Amino acid sequence: MKKIQMTTPLVEMDGDEMTRILWKMIKDELILPFVDLKVEYYDLGLPKRDETGDQITIDAAQACKKYGVGVKCATITPNAQRMTEYKLHQMWKSPNGTIRSILDGTVFRAPITIPTIHPVVKNWEKPITIARHAYGDVYKSVELKAGGPGTAKLVFDGADGSHQEVTIQAFKGPGVIQGMHNTDASIRSFAHACFKYATDTKQDLWFSTKDTISKTYDARFREIFDEVFQEYKARFEELGITYFYTLIDDAVARVIRSKGGFIWACKNYDGDVMSDMVSTAFGSLAMMTSVLVSPDGNYEYEAAHGTVTRHYYKYLQGEETSTNPMATIFAWSGALRQRGVKDGLQELVRFADELEAACFDTLGEGIATKDLVGLMEGITPKPANSAQFIAAIRERLEKRLAA
Ligand SMILES: NC(=O)c1ccc[n+]([C@@H]2O[C@H](COP(=O)([O-])OP(=O)(O)OC[C@H]3O[C@@H](n4cnc5c(N)ncnc54)[C@H](O)[C@@H]3O)[C@@H](O)[C@H]2O)c1
Repeated sequence: MKKIQMTTPLVEMDGDEMTRILWKMIKDELILPFVDLKVEYYDLGLPKRDETGDQITIDAAQACKKYGVGVKCATITPNAQRMTEYKLHQMWKSPNGTIRSILDGTVFRAPITIPTIHPVVKNWEKPITIARHAYGDVYKSVELKAGGPGTAKLVFDGADGSHQEVTIQAFKGPGVIQGMHNTDASIRSFAHACFKYATDTKQDLWFSTKDTISKTYDARFREIFDEVFQEYKARFEELGITYFYTLIDDAVARVIRSKGGFIWACKNYDGDVMSDMVSTAFGSLAMMTSVLVSPDGNYEYEAAHGTVTRHYYKYLQGEETSTNPMATIFAWSGALRQRGVKDGLQELVRFADELEAACFDTLGEGIATKDLVGLMEGITPKPANSAQFIAAIRERLEKRLAA
């Protein structure tokens, strides 16, 4: 069979531990036999990041900006234990954080759903995508302990010489204080990314804050979303999709009662909490996809899970592992499809669709990695290790492509 040709390289970012092993298996078995893969390769594995003083992560992010589409393997974010384990020169920052700040993106997370794994919330029929604003608020806040009675103030000294001041609290005894911020520019980027993703995927967009209580801070998010929506309104009407704003508490109640099938844009903390709730309620972290979308239309695809360290240590001891490659395969299919759309390569788009369909065929026959076996209902699962699972997908993919 003639391999599918590509015109523009995909930015390939390799990673760490078990996902690095899966990465190679996926490429060798499911991509390279079928696609004349063009990539610009960046090794974001921890040893290489350490060796390059993390420059490789910055270069990879710049390449994503240049070419518009990247696919990333899960990577270790070092902590004290990793410093010793890898004899690191520094406790390098999270690669995802670095890439996010260079691309200025919003992270969209959506579960891969299959008929034999029922969401815990039984009325959810379609996936719910969480769009998390990944800048500011409590994640970039400063905090103080007030040791005793005293006055806490919020002060802004403008570069133009202006001065604003409000009292936070006149403490009668010890307490705690927190100062946080966001920027109009970041909120605007977030809004553009959300509206753009909604039109790309033809799904309704929900947005929630607590602007009844936070009448300046959260209200600013709502105002900016309303403003930015004006640029997308006509397109939304054309596609028959809607933008819906509601309070976060009302959104939570409505999400639980909904059928799913929409994007839920959340402020940073809400998104952090809600994406774990949604992924767990849909089944498994190993089935959660993640894509970073920048307001100027660059895409970076990855799995939402980490490097599955526990399985990697077993693998190193020669033990068989049954790590689920689904979210990583979907990172590849998402990136190849996006490349195909950008470059007008119908064959590449079809390949991405068939690869995902082959995954669904495999799971549909009950062939599954161990993490899914206990979750499946109405079918007798056939447990497989990672290699067997990938081989089963390949068999079905070959049939589909030959049809
Ligand atoms: N996007 C990323 O690059 C990313 C995200 C999270 C964590 N990490 C890194 O990954 C490493 C391990 O972190 P962790 O253990 O907290 O998270 P993890 O997602 O790797 O694993 C957590 C648990 O979830 C299950 N799990 C996750 N993915 C699975 C899969 N594909 N198949 C089967 N089971 C799966 C396993 O039970 C595992 O023990 C850390 O070094 C962390 O820094 C990277």
